[in-house]
Amino acid sequence: MLVLQEQEQPTLEGENLVLFTGNSNPQLAHAIAEYLDVPLGKALVGRFTNGELRVQIEENVRGQEVFIVQPTCGNVNDTLMELLVMCDALTRASAKTITALVPYYGYARQEKKTTGREPITAKLVANLMTSAGCDRVITVDLHAAAIQGFFDIPVDNLMAMPIVVDYFRNKDIRKEDLVVVSPDAGGVTRARIFAERLGAGLAIIFKRRPRPDAVDVMDFVGDIEGKTALIVDDIISTGGTLLRGVDLLIEKGAKRVFAATTHGLFAGNAVEAIEASPIEEVIVTDTVPVSSTARSGKITVLSVAPLLGETIRRNYFNLSVSKLFG
Ligand code: R5P
Repeated sequence: MLVLQEQEQPTLEGENLVLFTGNSNPQLAHAIAEYLDVPLGKALVGRFTNGELRVQIEENVRGQEVFIVQPTCGNVNDTLMELLVMCDALTRASAKTITALVPYYGYARQEKKTTGREPITAKLVANLMTSAGCDRVITVDLHAAAIQGFFDIPVDNLMAMPIVVDYFRNKDIRKEDLVVVSPDAGGVTRARIFAERLGAGLAIIFKRRPRPDAVDVMDFVGDIEGKTALIVDDIISTGGTLLRGVDLLIEKGAKRVFAATTHGLFAGNAVEAIEASPIEEVIVTDTVPVSSTARSGKITVLSVAPLLGETIRRNYFNLSVSKLFG
């Protein structure tokens, strides 16, 4: 269970904390501000006529602990650049500390070279954020936990897992009938944690990417016959990984299939493909805004705002963040 605000913990009223947002997920920033009961800081984050970013911090931040909410999603290059330029403006305005709240870390899937002459863009982004003045990063379900090591500043890599587990526990599914499925070898640790929390079984799909954005399923380990499957992943992009997994699980005898994914990018025709598939429900969070056009009757969006708000509060008062995860 997610343990949120304990009684008699300090509130932020009158404290030296300012929360800003860029343009990538202002809805989430507003929800976090509401959780913390603080107003959002005033800043202009726009464009000059020639397309260059124009940032103006419109209130005093000297000596303040500043948090910027800006998942690097949507047009990832633009949203990343907004974050960097905001950090620069805040550094030059003498903020005491700058924490980048990047619930979805774009370029995370480029965290290693898989063939010769490729970049490690996730590391480049870490370098850029640090150079721009970030003192600390708060993120959710990094594609690879090792990305924390790309930074020489503290990184809180939070899990959306307790929020999803709380939601899923309220479904009328006997734990003996439930199997958590990792859709690839890289996700086994995440799936195991879900399985332990839900008291469910564990199964693994092994996939291969013959080329970018294409998926081949290679193998399956586990027993799914007559069971309910919960596929657990960090990202849905094209939906290829998920939907190949759904087909395989149905073929192996799964009775019902659900999915829980932290970051719903829904690229290309992912939503239409989900609608047309036998999957019952896809649970995502609002780390990335799920636009109304991307919503379907099968997609449920859970909010990470209380989790992020509480993490900000705990960072500010130097309280444990890991305690949130029980
Ligand atoms: C890959 O390792 C990730 O964990 C996701 O499974 C993947 O990024 C999803 O992408 P897509 O939806 O395009 O298959």
